[in-house]
Amino acid sequence: MKELKEKIEQYGTVLPGNVLKVDAFLNHQVDPELMLHIGQEFAKRFANEGITKVWTVESSGIAPAVFTGLAMKVPVIFARKHKSLTLNNDMYTADVYSYTKKTTNRISISKKYVDSSDKILMIDDFLANGQAVEGMLEIADQAGVDVAGAGIVIEKSFQPGANELKDRGIRVESLARIKSLDNGKVEFMPEQ
Ligand code: G4P
Repeated sequence: MKELKEKIEQYGTVLPGNVLKVDAFLNHQVDPELMLHIGQEFAKRFANEGITKVWTVESSGIAPAVFTGLAMKVPVIFARKHKSLTLNNDMYTADVYSYTKKTTNRISISKKYVDSSDKILMIDDFLANGQAVEGMLEIADQAGVDVAGAGIVIEKSFQPGANELKDRGIRVESLARIKSLDNGKVEFMPEQ
């Protein structure tokens, strides 16, 4: 997606540890016009799939997910993250390890907002090691809902998440795919 790549080129900075900082438009300050177009692009790519709900994980997935739900005219659920290990029978839960932050969060979605006839689209801002999407898949499995795929704003293609999901037969649609962040420079994958 050209507009997104231009934003990354203009405002993205590379931090040590292969971290791309995009808080100028994606995960701190949010560019609503870009987010609107991102939502429309995911809606276009996953049109005619019979999607009934968009799922994401708080917090940075919420902005692109809400605009996707708006474009698709379906509700959006963001899984909540908890540090505590409280178990609650009213919630579906999965444990998600963050390689970047070296912490495990329990994510949860209320059973009240899940219907076994749902077909869900998972949205996230980054796909790196794939832990957040794996957590959502685990919950989808517990709930017995169908999964249409994952819509990712920025895929770090040099990390294993995208390939692992594709190997499991999950459709992954990423709007910007990054080949490398070596030497502080953003290199994109060639367009397919
Ligand atoms: P995953 O995102 O594929 O699950 O992989 P990983 O475990 O590596 O990521 C952990 C957290 O770090 C995620 O945020 C993810 O979005 C974020 N992250 C990974 N790579 C980058 C990067 O290059 N730049 C930025 N800005 N973030 C990155 P999270 O823990 O879910 O937190 P939140 O920000 O959504 O609250």
